[in-house]
Amino acid sequence: MLRLGLAGFGTVGSGLVRILLENHEIITARTGQDISIKTILVRDLAKKRAVTAAPEVRFTTNPDDLVNDPDIDVVVELMGGIDTAKSLITRALHAGKHVITANKHLLALHGPELTALAASRGLGLFFEASVAGGIPIVQTLRESLGANRIERLVGILNGTANYILSEMTTSHLDFATALKQAKDLGYAEADPTYDIEGLDTAHKLVVLIRLAFGRDFPLQGVPVRGITQVTQMDIELAREFGYRIKLLAQARELDGRIEASVQPTLVKYTYLLARVGGNFNAVRVEGNAVGPIMLHGQGAGDTPTGSAVMADVMALCRGLAVPGWRFDNTGFGNKPLPQAEILPAEESVSMHYFRFSVADHPGVMAAISKSMAEHDISIAQAVQKGDMSGSDVPIVFLTHNAKAAAVAATIREIDAMSFTVRPTVQFPIL
Ligand SMILES: NC(=O)c1ccc[n+]([C@@H]2O[C@H](COP(=O)([O-])OP(=O)(O)OC[C@H]3O[C@@H](n4cnc5c(N)ncnc54)[C@H](OP(=O)(O)O)[C@@H]3O)[C@@H](O)[C@H]2O)c1
Repeated sequence: MLRLGLAGFGTVGSGLVRILLENHEIITARTGQDISIKTILVRDLAKKRAVTAAPEVRFTTNPDDLVNDPDIDVVVELMGGIDTAKSLITRALHAGKHVITANKHLLALHGPELTALAASRGLGLFFEASVAGGIPIVQTLRESLGANRIERLVGILNGTANYILSEMTTSHLDFATALKQAKDLGYAEADPTYDIEGLDTAHKLVVLIRLAFGRDFPLQGVPVRGITQVTQMDIELAREFGYRIKLLAQARELDGRIEASVQPTLVKYTYLLARVGGNFNAVRVEGNAVGPIMLHGQGAGDTPTGSAVMADVMALCRGLAVPGWRFDNTGFGNKPLPQAEILPAEESVSMHYFRFSVADHPGVMAAISKSMAEHDISIAQAVQKGDMSGSDVPIVFLTHNAKAAAVAATIREIDAMSFTVRPTVQFPIL
């Protein structure tokens, strides 16, 4: 018998309750345990719910009813937010309860502290649903790929951002229209800032870096660019060169240092990552033994995310069935993770897409090419859209590998030239 105290009965909480009700038989067959929810913590007892909980479930607005109830074995935190969630999880662990959470923002900020507390008490702290919703990437990195040195990780980790970029690409919408459509369909929150500014993706990337590389990478150390500056024009131009623009989270290890970033990136249309459409997520991992693998699926939503939470509940059951089992919450034996040595963003090397906006002026191409050559940036392809008679003509360059510092320097130089009419747009190419 395993009794859950559920904190939060919104999207994910409803999905979890639905799965427990509808798939009870298979879950019991697989775990050999009767798993049930004893109490659900909410803010508003009168609110109408998407799912009806079993009649014996008790509702409360008081966190003490979860934390102080000796019948509750595990607290499942599906409220979101930082302070209340952190306090609930900390109190639950102090009270000897295992914890399952989907709260990536909290984990990105306070994960090491919470996993250390859980380890000191011999308790499980599970978080499969915190990254990429229904995609089992946490367990994959911690267990299935545990024998690998992970060399690189690339992910599309935010369904809202991916939906907007996909609609801009396939339906030729501008950013504002695609965002409104995402809101109308319930894919974007009323305040979509975290999704479109790349912050939610950065939270998830920090959680993945710990699992993949065994290092703690500070959230504020991740360079983040969202999708608000991606225009229809760049999507179309990238497409003409055979690329799609995706919001990518990337991390790799280079000579012991970790390079990480979240930014809109051109991805060759033949790559699987370019094909990830709508509100789907995907994660590509390169391990030194397994080679590249890719997981693809729904990164949000009630039952996809509930499925990941339930996987944690079942993993907990399996651990509890072994007397003296020590839960390894980090995948690194619960030892405190060392701080990552960070590869400074300006040392990052990749191919790049540049769009210069210039006025009709003799020698423009030559001046741009000269500046790039002087910064050691070698040009792979160049195209000028339309003729040079206009006052705002786009010129696109795709480059070979170049250092980010050189890219920034050449943009500064070219943006200061008299023929440049608006700031240069630049994105890396995967
Ligand atoms: N939605 C997704 O697809 C998804 C995917 C992956 C991860 N997550 C993560 O899962 C967590 C939950 O997300 P969600 O979308 O399910 O959120 P949600 O729909 O907004 O639901 C939040 C629930 O928590 C309750 N709650 C919030 N603050 C509370 C407080 N101070 N005291 C008591 N109850 C409180 C709310 O109660 P009331 O209903 O009474 O207001 C509501 O039932 C978040 O950390 C989110 O980042 C969500």
